[in-house]
Amino acid sequence: MNLTIQPLSKVHYAQLCELAVSDEQQQYVGTMEGLLACVSMDVHPHVICVKDQVIGFFLIDTFYGIKYDFAHDNAIGLRGFFIDQRYQGKGYAKATMGQFGAYLKNYYSHRESIYLTVNCRNLFAKKSYLAGGFIDTGELYLGGAAGPQHVMKLTYVS
Ligand SMILES: CC(C)(COP(=O)(O)OP(=O)(O)OC[C@H]1O[C@@H](n2cnc3c(N)ncnc32)[C@H](O)[C@@H]1OP(=O)(O)O)[C@@H](O)C(=O)NCCC(=O)NCCS
Repeated sequence: MNLTIQPLSKVHYAQLCELAVSDEQQQYVGTMEGLLACVSMDVHPHVICVKDQVIGFFLIDTFYGIKYDFAHDNAIGLRGFFIDQRYQGKGYAKATMGQFGAYLKNYYSHRESIYLTVNCRNLFAKKSYLAGGFIDTGELYLGGAAGPQHVMKLTYVS
């Protein structure tokens, strides 16, 4: 499959601007423009590539544990994870999740766990995360604009 996860860099910019989800899916992640506006010293952008093509994107929020009561203080958070609409349904989210723990261990080795929230109606996303070893904590986060969300957690450093 030749899928890689990489920190966003200059070489990705042109293709990044072409990434989008469907109108219906925007309730879950918003737009590429909106996601890029979240990038800061604490919130890092990463891309998912197949060969030289950028096909997906996500943010790692290094202050997640401070911001959300359901997460441990030292935990990071996954936000805005998506696969571009042209490349969905081909196993790329599951393949990304297959590498996710090792990737985080490499780039965020001083942390141990990552949390995310996923809308209860977003079954494909939840399936993808479960495939990567995330567990459903059983807790619901009710602060999202699009309805209740499952809280999921992955411990990637043992
Ligand atoms: C959720 C999302 C990341 C999944 O990406 P993807 O690359 O299409 O997912 P995969 O092809 O790896 O499939 C993951 C699972 O969903 C299922 N799936 C994905 N798209 C499907 C479709 N159109 N029809 C039926 N099943 C589908 C797959 O069969 C697989 O399930 P399995 O474990 O039973 O095999 C993608 O749809 C997306 O970006 N959605 C919009 C943004 C979003 O919701 N992000 C999550 C925010 S928390």
